Amino acid sequence: MNDTFLRACRGEEVDYTPVWLMRQAGRYLPEYQAVRAHVDFLTLCKNPKLAAEVTLQPVDILGVDAAILFSDILIPLEPMGMRLEFSEKEGPILSEPVRSKSAVERLIIPDVEEDLPFVFDTIRILRKELEHKVPLIGFAGAPFTLATYMIEGGTSKNFLNTKKLMFQNSAVFSYLMEKITDTVTAYLLSQIKAGAQAVQIFDSWAGILTPVDYRKFAFPFVKKAISELKKAGVPIIYFVNNCAGILKEVRQSGADVIGIDWRIDIADAIKKLGKKVTVQGNLDPCALFLPKDKIEERVKDILWKGGAAKGHIFNLGHGILPQTPVENVIAMVEAVHTYGRFT
Ligand code: CP3
Repeated sequence: MNDTFLRACRGEEVDYTPVWLMRQAGRYLPEYQAVRAHVDFLTLCKNPKLAAEVTLQPVDILGVDAAILFSDILIPLEPMGMRLEFSEKEGPILSEPVRSKSAVERLIIPDVEEDLPFVFDTIRILRKELEHKVPLIGFAGAPFTLATYMIEGGTSKNFLNTKKLMFQNSAVFSYLMEKITDTVTAYLLSQIKAGAQAVQIFDSWAGILTPVDYRKFAFPFVKKAISELKKAGVPIIYFVNNCAGILKEVRQSGADVIGIDWRIDIADAIKKLGKKVTVQGNLDPCALFLPKDKIEERVKDILWKGGAAKGHIFNLGHGILPQTPVENVIAMVEAVHTYGRFT
């Protein structure tokens, strides 16, 4: 197996800079669209054979150095007791948002292996399929990011309901965060047990908080989850969208790898994160709409700057967009492999 990605996670010497893309399995691939034409998104997530098939598509088509389990961060919210739907137009909808003490009390900390068997079955299929290829990354949402979906009932603009609960009823907010943290920790430990060789925690919305509020309302919970997960011995990646204002805290999360978005220069992020962690990122997903020679320039710039970190894993600064031309993605992966600093 090509273990370049795992070596980079641990900050070990590598022959070249590894690359994978957040949301690498998805709608920009015609092969994914072909599978999705017959099944809706949640059915796809819950069918191990099909979920494994779409996980493997970008590995074969793009030549990336890691696979990421096909699923969604919202999947564990169903066994917690929430009703989850995906609308083509609006994205995820949780029809009964959690905004009161009684609603938090009703939430269940699920037996993940019992309630989400399809996730672990998918992982087991994938480990067999990937045996001579690349490592498999498992994932979950960070407690704060999951809390925003549970409180808002979907995606949001100002996250007012989340902040109202935080500010007006912080005991209830903390109680909710504790339940989510326990669920996420058990969920990732079970993914590792089933065969995930690294795990990524997605904190897509942590960056909407002031640094002071992040430190108080989000950070202690993700830090606790990471410290429990560390015992399992696989690399832990903590991706924080809009991370620039909170890197000082993020640096102390205990994660082996910090994933950064594109709004910060990777050289500045490395200066702030120091030499103890590997850095993952951070091409603007929209840069994939540039002409190929310009994509190459940006790839080279990030690779060059990434060389200052303990380790560097090339990635986008957030998920790939559905409109992205596949040939540009292939050109990007090729550029990383061609110009990676150790070749
Ligand atoms: O990276 C991968 O290839 C693995 C699969 C994956 C998906 N979602 C599949 C998906 C992963 C890692 C996620 C994570 C996820 N899901 C996050 C964190 C990363 C981020 O983007 O910030 C979040 C916030 C979600 C919640 C979610 N799922 C939203 C807001 C949406 C709707 C917006 C959108 O992109 O459509 C989804 C749906 C979703 N998750 C799709 C896919 C492939 C599209 C569903 C479809 O096929 O119609």
